[in-house]
Amino acid sequence: DALAGRFPLTRHEHAASPEQRARALAELRFGVAFTDHMAHARWSPESDWHSHEVIPYGDLSVSPAAAVLHYGQEVFEGIKAYRHADGSVWTFRPRFNAARMALSARRMALPELPEEDLVASLVDLVRADEPWVPSGDGESLYLRPFTFASEPFLGVRAARAVDYYLIASPAGNYFPHGLEPLSIWVSAEFHRAGPGGTGAAKTGGNYASSLLPQQEAQERGCDQVCFLDAATGLNLEELGGMNIMVVDADGTVRTPQLTGTILQGSTRSSIITLLREEGRRVVEETISLESLLAGIESGRVAEVFACGTAAVVVPIGRLAGQGFEVEIAGTEVTRQIHAHLTGIQYGRLPDPHNWMYRL
Ligand code: COI
Repeated sequence: DALAGRFPLTRHEHAASPEQRARALAELRFGVAFTDHMAHARWSPESDWHSHEVIPYGDLSVSPAAAVLHYGQEVFEGIKAYRHADGSVWTFRPRFNAARMALSARRMALPELPEEDLVASLVDLVRADEPWVPSGDGESLYLRPFTFASEPFLGVRAARAVDYYLIASPAGNYFPHGLEPLSIWVSAEFHRAGPGGTGAAKTGGNYASSLLPQQEAQERGCDQVCFLDAATGLNLEELGGMNIMVVDADGTVRTPQLTGTILQGSTRSSIITLLREEGRRVVEETISLESLLAGIESGRVAEVFACGTAAVVVPIGRLAGQGFEVEIAGTEVTRQIHAHLTGIQYGRLPDPHNWMYRL
């Protein structure tokens, strides 16, 4: 509770009537509806972070010369708030996201929002908009913190005026078909990140550069794109916005190691911990596309799945690319880990690591 009240509600308005809210919550999709308020703070080199507040959700007024619009100096996070059966509202490992946003900010030459401030903004916004937290199966309030260069200046250097906002969106499944297996297009032509680049930072440009390959994936009849490493073009990296894991027939789970070119997922890290506790062998290593395809053909690989905050855990049922197309039938371990993780998040299972944080 110590972190409540840092972002005071400076103006109280109910943008949506209870009826409008009920209608919005009745048919949830991902990322289309927003709550009544948002949290905000400003930064300048002279004043550090200041003017923390919760204000009505609404359009921003930004200079057309704001550096973010030209050079993409921006970082963001994704985190969910879950309603438990007793009505209480919790989020999952908020300090993981806060620490990661600080790392991303560092890479993008943005000021680091103190971890406590990020967590405080979650507490204050969710308390202001508490009725917006849905309670249906697989539903959550998706929280999107972001920091961007608002200084009106066209020179290429780190901005001296920066804004932090937190917005919230009641959300259903990221993939409309839930746990239905995804089909993946492995891009040979495009890469997401290279050594020394921004791949480990959660910054808009990484997602912007994934859009064309993602369109290519969809043109090939696939749901998502998978990237290979830029240095050799041989090894799996991640999907357009989530990490990838492979389950071997002997029960071992493998995932690409963090090399600085992929995002350190909160879901990825939590799954690794949970699987190891279950007594499974989990290895973070280089996974070549060639070895994965051979493993699927021979039966040595039983399952492949995607994981992320928005997507949670989703089986991958088909992998296609230039000159290959393979089916993957297994989903058993994927479903188990989905049940274990969401069990903790929705308060149905014990939380031995204290990952859940009450808002
Ligand atoms: C997440 O929140 O899981 C993301 O990575 C962002 C995007 C894929 C919605």
